[in-house]
Amino acid sequence: MSEVFEAARKVMPGGVSSPVRAFGSVGGSPVFVKSAKGAYVTGVDDREYLDLVGSWGPALLGHAHPEVVEAVRQAAGRGLSFGAPTTGETELAELIIGRVGGIEKARFTSTGTEATMTAIRLARGFTGRELIIKFAGCYHGHSDGLLAEAGSGVATAGLPGSAGVTKAAAGDTIVLPYNDLDAVKEVFASRGSEIAAIITEAAAANMGVVPPNPGFNQGLLRIAKEHGALLIQDEVLTGFRVSDAGYWGLEGRRDGWTPDIYCFGKVAGGGMPLAALAGRTEIMDKLAPLGPVYQAGTLSGNPLAVAAGKATLTLADAKVYARIDAMADKLAGILTGRLTEAGIPHRLQRVGSLMSVFWGEGPAQAPVINYAEAQKQDTSIFTRFFHSMLDQGVLLPPSAFEAWFLSAAHGESELDRLDVAIQKATQAISS
Ligand SMILES: Cc1ncc(COP(=O)(O)O)c(C=O)c1O
Repeated sequence: MSEVFEAARKVMPGGVSSPVRAFGSVGGSPVFVKSAKGAYVTGVDDREYLDLVGSWGPALLGHAHPEVVEAVRQAAGRGLSFGAPTTGETELAELIIGRVGGIEKARFTSTGTEATMTAIRLARGFTGRELIIKFAGCYHGHSDGLLAEAGSGVATAGLPGSAGVTKAAAGDTIVLPYNDLDAVKEVFASRGSEIAAIITEAAAANMGVVPPNPGFNQGLLRIAKEHGALLIQDEVLTGFRVSDAGYWGLEGRRDGWTPDIYCFGKVAGGGMPLAALAGRTEIMDKLAPLGPVYQAGTLSGNPLAVAAGKATLTLADAKVYARIDAMADKLAGILTGRLTEAGIPHRLQRVGSLMSVFWGEGPAQAPVINYAEAQKQDTSIFTRFFHSMLDQGVLLPPSAFEAWFLSAAHGESELDRLDVAIQKATQAISS
């Protein structure tokens, strides 16, 4: 164990501020980062790593983009936090509304967890109902009612949920298999009048990348509408990443529909703590101070985070998305090519520029469409692959259940380096 990890573990549970960072499922000591720039992070031991974690999503433009850093620097010079409204918040809300369909108002929070938690409370306040439907393997942050069969760190640790969640909180959440509209119809047929909302990742990417079946999201909206419930589309991970308008930009814009409430985070805050929920006025105005649904935050809409979000969204133009998509196409080609060459059974799945690999014979046979299938992968193959890549200076998300993140700072030289590393890693694990 590294010295810095040992010191951290003495004073913080697991040595980390968020569980997956601890390398628990892959073993070894996590890389303690002292700085990051573009496509690279530098460890405290001065070793540089080509980074495919991207701060778990926010680093769309690459780390420490000069214009984003300058925007934050200037904001910091004007004061760190006021506890009063700023014009920057209005401007960021306008940027979000201008990009994504069906949004008239947005409320800023500091984390994605708060955004989804508030969206649920808002849906309950709006409908006067209590039950929520979520899907196994989807992760919506760590509020009590949303941890059942959650993805991300909960999936990585192989937990069914979390201790400390009351039966009442768990009992208000109905967990169904992802991509199964019949299961949703069945529950609505028996309990439709009690259901406030369905919450779903716009495209699941916390159990590995599992795209929604064609018509799944729109089907959820239709069923919810038929029964007077709302659809909450969680775009904390996909928002402003898989297109200029997030996953809605790949599907809803094409098919002409919008969910009732969106949740955003990650890219929207450009690497600073910022998230949002957003939707139509009729729903959003139920939030305090106009409505009876309470939500607040000392640091909500923090001026530094707003500055980072505004700069990031302003810079994230069509060229940025085209470049990241092109890099993702090439990386996916390299990855499947090298794994196939080495005879390693696998399935690579994608949603726009997001990708992950499911390892082993099970996933190799058929596409992974839900959490039960995702759990059949052989994570021990990933562990060996991960460590070989790390030894070669490539930092992957330390879990087979997490998506890989590219940025606009990843270019041809990074792809060349990845190709060499992936070839060596596949040889290492097939020998
Ligand atoms: C889809 C989704 N929703 C919500 C969250 C929670 O966001 P945060 O970690 O900012 O609380 C995440 C985080 O990974 C996420 O991927």
